[in-house]
Amino acid sequence: MNIENVTRTAKKMVADHKGILAIDESIASCNKRFAKIGISQTEDCRRSYRDLIITTPNLSNYISGVILCDETIRQYRKDGTAFAKYIIDSGMLLGIKVDGGEKDLAGHSGEMITEGIDGLRERLATYAQMGVRFAKWRAEIIIGDHMPSKGCIDANAHSLARYAALCQEAGIVPIVEPEVIMDGDHSIETCNNVTTAVLHAVFNQLYRQRVVLEGIILKPNMVISGLQCPHQASINEVADATINCLLHTVPAAVPGIAFLSGGQTARLASEHLNAMNKWTKSTIPWALTFSYARAIQQPALEIWQGKDLNIEEAQAELLHRAKCNYAANCREYTDLYEKA
Ligand code: 13P
Repeated sequence: MNIENVTRTAKKMVADHKGILAIDESIASCNKRFAKIGISQTEDCRRSYRDLIITTPNLSNYISGVILCDETIRQYRKDGTAFAKYIIDSGMLLGIKVDGGEKDLAGHSGEMITEGIDGLRERLATYAQMGVRFAKWRAEIIIGDHMPSKGCIDANAHSLARYAALCQEAGIVPIVEPEVIMDGDHSIETCNNVTTAVLHAVFNQLYRQRVVLEGIILKPNMVISGLQCPHQASINEVADATINCLLHTVPAAVPGIAFLSGGQTARLASEHLNAMNKWTKSTIPWALTFSYARAIQQPALEIWQGKDLNIEEAQAELLHRAKCNYAANCREYTDLYEKA
């Protein structure tokens, strides 16, 4: 294992105020988003959509790396260029989602465990040969009646840590993504308590599995009110709660924290990121950035509608969202960035 390369890559992923673009939805999730707006759910449509995103002019001004799923990393542009090569040649780091998705956790009704450790060492070696520099594994933690259980938190934290150790062994930076789901009527305080417990468990397991913290990127949820909670915390309350939670749980050795958007609107995700980057109550030891999927892609997807004549406009919207989040990392995002 060349850990210096891994730590260098991790720093690069969060350098210069850039963020990480997540376009790694599984075939099923991508199809679900296509179905909602009437786009055909075929392999070629998914290929065309990913082509549109990856070839957005000037994307690398704001994006350091792109996370693909296994289907996309094996696909090609119409001119025969592999997507993987196109991304690398555009100056962005190539990333891959390696988890096998969420399955019901036995004995824990309503809770999920992420699978995919079997055969992971061999898959990582293959991806490394394809030019992959970082990977992603997402664990899903649901808030509900008597949930999450300690059994669910510990099982997912353990899998995240085993995945992270295998990535570093293969010279690949692991994005460690424990996502506390926003769905529900829970308060921001409940989200804070659950996120704190989850991050403590994750860093405990990362330590036990001898993961080098300088060579990971954490991808957490923000600490936020549940989507159906009647009282929605303000932007500054979310920034305060999120930074305080992270200061209590994430060691300073971690180079960067790249948030998921989790179902927030594109604008709100930019506003929250900006407020966190502007936070001045104490020193923040890690780079704070974005690794959004929906909050960058959704507006562009709605413009595209599966039609070639909309590609340019969709790309302009995608670039716009990438730029807004880059501006948030520079503490410069305001309403003025949004078109009337
Ligand atoms: P969202 O930003 O849409 O939450 O997606 C982030 C992600 O990569 C989920 O794994």
